[in-house]
Amino acid sequence: MTRQMADNQTAPVLPIALERSIYGLITTPVLHLALEHGIFDRLLADGPLPSSSVAERIGADADTVERLLLVLAAFEVVRRDADGSFHVPVEIAPFVARDSASYVGGFVNHMVMDAPGRLERLAEYLTRGKEAADAARPAPYDEFYRDEQSTQDFMDAMWDLSYGVSQELAALAGLDGHRRLVDVGGANGPFAVAALRQSPELRAVVFDLAQVGPHLERTRVEHGLADRLSFVAGDFFHDDLPAGDLIAMGYVMSNWPDRECLELLRKAHAACVPGGRLLIMERLFDDGRDGPIATAVMNLEMQVETRGRHRTPAEYVELLTSAGFVDPEVRRSTRDKHLVIGCKPSG
Ligand SMILES: C[S@@+](CC[C@H](N)C(=O)[O-])C[C@H]1O[C@@H](n2cnc3c(N)ncnc32)[C@H](O)[C@@H]1O
Repeated sequence: MTRQMADNQTAPVLPIALERSIYGLITTPVLHLALEHGIFDRLLADGPLPSSSVAERIGADADTVERLLLVLAAFEVVRRDADGSFHVPVEIAPFVARDSASYVGGFVNHMVMDAPGRLERLAEYLTRGKEAADAARPAPYDEFYRDEQSTQDFMDAMWDLSYGVSQELAALAGLDGHRRLVDVGGANGPFAVAALRQSPELRAVVFDLAQVGPHLERTRVEHGLADRLSFVAGDFFHDDLPAGDLIAMGYVMSNWPDRECLELLRKAHAACVPGGRLLIMERLFDDGRDGPIATAVMNLEMQVETRGRHRTPAEYVELLTSAGFVDPEVRRSTRDKHLVIGCKPSG
């Protein structure tokens, strides 16, 4: 088809929203390369720097480093000074500094490494539907934990995704008076560690699939929590959950359809001592489901990576009250993971 413009028609300017959508496919891998190859490390430690100095310090090709930095500058992830040097803006720094609790590198790696396969899958879903297309595929966690490297990458992604915000969530939850936290699907312990740091009287159990055990063990040792943090291996669809007065589920509900979520919440209710509380920690859709962007994008990701979806606060409240929890409450963090709390009546 040939497209023509009438003589009197002026060419429309590409709106910035569309420009970012088109070129976003390139910027995420560029961000990944800059994180992996130490470009941000050098700029944070020694910047502002011209691209040639960054290239020299990381032992990389200067022309390629310059082009990568120009993309990041165009997308305002780094800034280019009048003399052509680059620096990392203060608001970006905590997210790209490797030793920061808010580091996004593990999560970006998780997004980038499987993205091409995921895009192919979406095309198949569009034509055949998810259920038919997934029929011959392994279950989501068999795929994530298919080998040691993939398990390690997933654990790194969970830590990077959750540890920074967990400190805020633990404070928002209010841990005073609680003695035993059971973090269901707690992975390598980002929320458990944040909670234990905040509440000296608390003990925590991470309940998760057996493959996660060695990763939680590493966290216990690295954080000096061997006497307060333990691991129970199990499958939450087949085994009972350990008992506790605080049952947490972070990014667990968003992996599963409503029917399985209700089953898990009923198990959580059985495991929760009377007077105890449930903490659902999730991204939330706005009530009208028209944002935020990260929730809408991750809702699509959930379709490909898992069998779940993201929900509005009202949908979570409905699920937890159906499972028997009362006095539901939503507490929002300043980031993209929030709390939906339910209580188990004491008598
Ligand atoms: C998306 S991760 C969330 C990790 C962590 N709670 C967080 O907020 O970052 C979901 C967790 O659920 C665990 N999980 C998945 N299926 C499970 C099952 N059948 N039984 C127990 N844990 C399971 C996974 O191993 C993983 O650690």
